[in-house]
Amino acid sequence: MPRRPLVSAAVLASAFLFLAACDTGTPPALEGSGAGGAEWISGTVDERFQQVGDQFAGFSSTMFEVAHRYRELSWAVEDGNWEYATYQTEKIADAIELGIIRRPARGESAETLFLGSPVDEMLAALETGDARTVSQEFQEFTAACNQCHVAEDMAFVVVGPPEFRSTVVQP
Ligand code: HEC
Repeated sequence: MPRRPLVSAAVLASAFLFLAACDTGTPPALEGSGAGGAEWISGTVDERFQQVGDQFAGFSSTMFEVAHRYRELSWAVEDGNWEYATYQTEKIADAIELGIIRRPARGESAETLFLGSPVDEMLAALETGDARTVSQEFQEFTAACNQCHVAEDMAFVVVGPPEFRSTVVQP
């Protein structure tokens, strides 16, 4: 199944950065209400890019999103909601792809241990619509999260399906 294009935050960010880049000289001060609450973005254009970039943070913000989506995925698998599970699997892969743009040092582990077969095989399992196949593959998918944590010196982060229902998506 073809992946959806990366959207949302990345698109908004590039639109913002493009607008910021249009201003090549010494930027005027961002003033009062006209700045839409962005007075904290100040200095030269380079400094402004840096300040906006810092707000994206690194891989921890990626993992914050991935953890949410993994939790949702887990309940989608439990509920047999294959469409929602497919959606979350794709979004997890998208988030990690964006994360390794910001933190290329994580790229090799992400690509060799996760973005290849674990993601593709999870999507393929969901396509079969067979609960046993999906649940077995979900275990492999989870193992791949943890293998990457080991590879990235984060072995103390061991993830697994949540014990208590935490999603607002109904079964
Ligand atoms: C590139 C390899 C890699 C993959 C794949 C990966 N992680 Fe992570 N994970 C990390 C790294 C690195 C950190 C520490 C991030 C940091 O603080 O910079 C982390 C941290 C975490 C944390 C702690 C985040 C926090 O700060 O609260 C959770 C939870 C987590 N990962 C869940 C997952 C889940 C679930 C998956 C699979 C769906 C996954 N990770 C896949 C590398 C990975």
